[in-house]
Amino acid sequence: MEKLKITGGNQLFGEIAVCGAKNAAVAIIPAALLVDGVCRIENVPDIKDVRLIIDMLVQLGASVTYVNDTTIEVNSSNLKTHIAPCDLASRMRASYYLLGALIGRMKKAEVSLPGGCNFGTRPIDLHEKGFRALGAKVSIEDGIVFADAQELAGNTIYLDTVSVGATINIMLAAVLAKGRTVIENAAKEPHIVDVANFLNAMGANVRGAGTDVIRITGVEQMRGGSYSIIPDQIEAGTFMLLAAATGGNVLVRNIIPIHMNCLTSKLEEMGIGVTEYDDSIRIERDGELHGVSVKTMPYPGFPTDLQPQMVALLSTVDGNSSVQENVWDNRFQYIDQLLAMGADIKVEGRRAKITGAKLHGAEVTATDLRAGAALIIAGAAADGVTEIASPHYIDRGYSDIERRLRSIGVKIERIFEAD
Ligand code: EPZ
Repeated sequence: MEKLKITGGNQLFGEIAVCGAKNAAVAIIPAALLVDGVCRIENVPDIKDVRLIIDMLVQLGASVTYVNDTTIEVNSSNLKTHIAPCDLASRMRASYYLLGALIGRMKKAEVSLPGGCNFGTRPIDLHEKGFRALGAKVSIEDGIVFADAQELAGNTIYLDTVSVGATINIMLAAVLAKGRTVIENAAKEPHIVDVANFLNAMGANVRGAGTDVIRITGVEQMRGGSYSIIPDQIEAGTFMLLAAATGGNVLVRNIIPIHMNCLTSKLEEMGIGVTEYDDSIRIERDGELHGVSVKTMPYPGFPTDLQPQMVALLSTVDGNSSVQENVWDNRFQYIDQLLAMGADIKVEGRRAKITGAKLHGAEVTATDLRAGAALIIAGAAADGVTEIASPHYIDRGYSDIERRLRSIGVKIERIFEAD
């Protein structure tokens, strides 16, 4: 069995660079299916979810070549099918972007319902609402989403819930549709803006991304071009929270500081030293910290994808804290693992109440990507040795994680034990 073994208790020092944004990459790569030409995409994170989505594009008939570890060229000039490989698509959430891209390019799609992290119901009703509003017939049979449109015509779509996936998927389906599409109550995450910027770099006409009203004017065709993916807001936040939990002095490089405002202000409220530079943030913990209350919200609020990592930090901070999860209905499953490490946390519905404690090492299991990241933070801050089973979840979103964390002083190694 594969595990990450961490010996905790030492402070961290040095610099760590952030990779390209996972949740932008897993949307931008499928978006290349809309382009009748070559897309050169830079700053692509080398993570499992990206390699999976690339495999799906290749099976659809796109050619994908790695120029180097973080640059790919995608040519979707000769797609051979609109049917996505079931076995792959059901293994991750972002496979649903194949729906928007294939509907947009081929006016039909067959994609299995997405998989991905299990923290509550993860419907796609808003995606379907958008596709139907553009003129597609959509049905779900035996876990497969079937979509077919004679013609795609622009429309105005109001999203009942702020949804990253639905916002992006409707953009993908609308860029080649006839006329104008307006998405109201759109999500505003940095990766939404990144996808819109990619689409425009390839010849689309998308305006207003980053606000809650996005306007898309359909174009005849999208040509090739080049684009570089933004740094990963969530990976940056994970490293910032890790440095805060262990103490020391760490410079997190290759970030866009404004994307981190929601976290930066919380860390300062706790007593963490935060210094912002043009494309990096320094985290210093050299005094006593105090507890805070956190509410996860769609961007620019505190990101739900940093909620587990923040709970891990707050578990080590004297005093009382609370974290309210407002996006997902069951995103506290990982807390049992923190309790095994001595954390003092009580979950009541969507609220976790935390009392700071001294964590100790334990054998724990990652239950999803960000839960795994939280266990790394807890293990690095705890006294003793922590072994994290199911590290494959962590590999979905954090590339080369042991080497990168060792570079700032985390005592971490990947071990393989006989089952
Ligand atoms: C994306 O998931 C991210 N995944 C998630 O990150 C992230 O937690 C989430 O956005 C919120 O920021 C990717 O980008 C691949 P949503 P997504 O649609 O698109 C409800 C990670 O760790 N909803 O914004 O699935 C839904 O139930 C992952 O990187 C509907 O009701 O999230 C939820 O309550 C984990 N109907 C809320 O909207 C729909 O059709 C937000 O979901 C779609 C969503």
